Amino acid sequence: PQAQLTVDRDFAIGPVNRRLFGSFVEHMGRCVYTGIYEPGHPAADENGFRTDVLELAREMGVSVVRYPGGNFVSGYRWEDGVGPDRPTRLDLAWRQIETNKFGLNEFMTWTKAAQVEPMMAVNLGTRGLQEACDLLEYANHPSGTQWSDLRIKHGVTQPYDIRLWCLGNEMDGPWQIGHKSAEEYGRLANETARAMRLVDPRVELVLCGSSNSGMATFGSWEATVLEHAYDAVDYLSMHAYYEENGDLPGFLCSAVDMDRFISGVVATADHVAAKQRKRKQINLSFDEWNVWNFSQFKGIAQAPFEEAPRLIEDTYTAADAVVVGDFLITLLRHADRVSIACQAQLANIIAPIRTEPGGVAWRQTIFHPFALTAEHARGTVLRVEPKSPMLETGRYGEAPALSAVATTDGDSLAVFAVNRSPGEALDLSARVPGLSGPMRALVIEAGDDPHRVEVTPKPLDVVVDGDTLRTRLPAASWAVILND
Ligand code: AHR
Repeated sequence: PQAQLTVDRDFAIGPVNRRLFGSFVEHMGRCVYTGIYEPGHPAADENGFRTDVLELAREMGVSVVRYPGGNFVSGYRWEDGVGPDRPTRLDLAWRQIETNKFGLNEFMTWTKAAQVEPMMAVNLGTRGLQEACDLLEYANHPSGTQWSDLRIKHGVTQPYDIRLWCLGNEMDGPWQIGHKSAEEYGRLANETARAMRLVDPRVELVLCGSSNSGMATFGSWEATVLEHAYDAVDYLSMHAYYEENGDLPGFLCSAVDMDRFISGVVATADHVAAKQRKRKQINLSFDEWNVWNFSQFKGIAQAPFEEAPRLIEDTYTAADAVVVGDFLITLLRHADRVSIACQAQLANIIAPIRTEPGGVAWRQTIFHPFALTAEHARGTVLRVEPKSPMLETGRYGEAPALSAVATTDGDSLAVFAVNRSPGEALDLSARVPGLSGPMRALVIEAGDDPHRVEVTPKPLDVVVDGDTLRTRLPAASWAVILND
């Protein structure tokens, strides 16, 4: 089968926002403890940070890291994680013993070593407006008040100036500690946001959208919470996880659902804007997304309380890497409205980076499309008007076989493309007016063996013919085509 696209610098969607290459560190399983932080590990630095993991996070090109949860944040007392006294607590979200050896100041030191921007979440489950303001005062107020002086006493003289703050996590989910109705949450989030802006007017605030698009309240939740908090917030959150679950053709088209989900939330936000006669636009923070083999997760209801348990340490496949590459294409295609995106999570928990306690750290298959996209997506995102045969899926109906987007920065050009067909290669021709010079491409192929658990991006032949480039995308593959 044949597919076409056009790369024209006039078809701009918007700038490549580096915040699209975010990740997520939750106090869950072994993401923090024996993931990014393991004092005594042979690769640990003087702070107990695993330098092997730090190097991999930098290699991945991670830009923003959301912290400390996730469901964990809805029962968290941030004060437990600062200063010399660190109480050991029960974490009810994941049935863990939380030692609090790692907290805000450790995280902020880690973000500097990882060269990433922090994105903090406040607890709006068991706590409220006052504790959120206290935390913000501790983090961002210069000095001369109880909380800012406590930070200084803890050895941090300069305020952190943390800009991104999530107003709770998945507050629509009945599993959430302190779960709320849309009315309750909308009011609380609005009041908390207004107060936080009084503490520090420079903060950027994320309102909780639905936990996923399958929630019974999806759509009405977004509309209600925005009706309460439209003026007070900057972004609305989205979360989505996908799994193969015995249906490879449908799974390879997962990004079709992500695309519809984004369009639906944009429409809902704009509907509230129209009703309330707003000029301000609410953009999206897709602050949890990934492949998660959720049906294999037994849950934690009967689990004993444990320190750093092994939880959802999914092993990823070549097919998962292709789907993750397609998610990144989809996020870039919506760069005009999706401002922040965080792959969940960074280490061990459904993660591109895995570690063994006391042992090695390694890249999973999904590491590669993330790292290559973060490295090569630069400048401006271009829509490329792809044309390709349609695939029939049970899950999502008809889906185009080709998913693609391009970015350009000065003379440099990158085209990202996925062939979603599990069985057939796609002959791609791309018209690039003004094309000159050689092109090269890298491919991650899954059609030959979708379930192998190691991948290495390989060179792919590209032929330049006048202003057209041609390549053959193997079945179930992700590719990046470059002119450098
Ligand atoms: O990322 C794992 C969990 O998934 C998070 O804690 C929660 O927000 C989501 O449901």
